[in-house]
Amino acid sequence: MREISLHILDIVQNSLAAKAANITIIIKESSTKDEFCVIIKDDGCGMSEEKVKKALDPFYTTRTTRKVGLGLSMLQANAQGCNGDLSVLSKEGQGTVVTAKFQHSHIDRPPLGDIISTIIALISGAPHVNFLYQHKCDDKEFTFDTKEIKNVLQDMPISHPEVLAWIKDYMQEKEKELQ
Ligand SMILES: Nc1ncnc2c1ncn2[C@@H]1O[C@H](COP(=O)(O)OP(=O)(O)OP(=O)(O)O)[C@@H](O)[C@H]1O
Ligand SMILES: [Mg+2]
Repeated sequence: MREISLHILDIVQNSLAAKAANITIIIKESSTKDEFCVIIKDDGCGMSEEKVKKALDPFYTTRTTRKVGLGLSMLQANAQGCNGDLSVLSKEGQGTVVTAKFQHSHIDRPPLGDIISTIIALISGAPHVNFLYQHKCDDKEFTFDTKEIKNVLQDMPISHPEVLAWIKDYMQEKEKELQ
């Protein structure tokens, strides 16, 4: 995929399909480690060890009549192509943590892309889910938690266009401060 935010959108679809109520998205950029790290954590249905292995094998799904699954293996291939790797830690009934690491300066590392639109799309598509988004760049960081927003909003839905517009402005400002 041309942008890391599109991978994030895709991987989070798995968490939503796994009926997660809480999804954490963390981006860690380190210039000292020359690392670009993405962590997606959910409290969905999780996977057995065998299922994790199968999920990471793109050929497995095509061999069976199961729907072709490419999300995780594509991210894995992309990360590995950038001197990085992908790890999937999962426990049935508890949840899943997907970690993708890229060499930050690698020529093939996709740009982050439009992460703000990605987060807005996720919130409007699954307003009942709590999303915690954190972006760290060396010693600077920004955290955004929809649970906190929902507490302030009380009866107003988080998917209301005016709320989403506010979130977008707020995130734009905070992302700018990270640069
Ligand atoms: N967070 C998760 N929680 C539970 N199961 C997961 C999770 N992520 C992946 N899986 C399981 O691993 C399989 C493979 O995931 P992957 O994203 O690679 O492909 P897919 O979702 O099946 O298809 P695609 O992403 O191409 O639409 C999923 O079908 C699902 O069974
Ligand atoms: Mg998927």
